[in-house]
Amino acid sequence: MYWTKRHVFVCTASHCNQKGAMDFVARLRLEIIRKKLDAEILINNCGTIDLCDMGPNVIVYPDNVILRGVTLKDIPMLVEYLRGGELPESMVINAHSKDEEQRRSFYAEAITPDAPRGVDNFSALALEHNLDQAWIDEQARRGFIARKPTEDGTGTQVTVTTKTRTRYRLLP
Ligand code: FES
Repeated sequence: MYWTKRHVFVCTASHCNQKGAMDFVARLRLEIIRKKLDAEILINNCGTIDLCDMGPNVIVYPDNVILRGVTLKDIPMLVEYLRGGELPESMVINAHSKDEEQRRSFYAEAITPDAPRGVDNFSALALEHNLDQAWIDEQARRGFIARKPTEDGTGTQVTVTTKTRTRYRLLP
């Protein structure tokens, strides 16, 4: 934003909120005011960023950085970073983070061959990649996969959506 040096968004949607995001954002905002940084650093809540199982998540612009799994004890480190200190690398998630590479590799396998899979087959493959049913259900809610009845109506099949293929760089 043109009048701030950094614009910070803290996801306070349901999953992140269940893990303390509202408390986190309130304390972070207070700390920024206490340190007299509030003229340069704006803190806002935001909705989900589709990394629900990793939250609470924080996005920092213009750095284009996402920090995952933040807790109250991370606030001093985060404030230091926001005032120009070191990026807390261990909390950063990006396309090359271990978790995201794991998901990319799972989805790459799930679309090979590129045809819908039966739900059980899809779940078994996910499990091989250490991704459980709760994660699959969340992926469905977030639109990363679509579940549809099979053509003969006897079962359910799973399709990997364009959203996923775009995010995980799996488009041809
Ligand atoms: S609830 Fe925070 S990323 Fe989805």
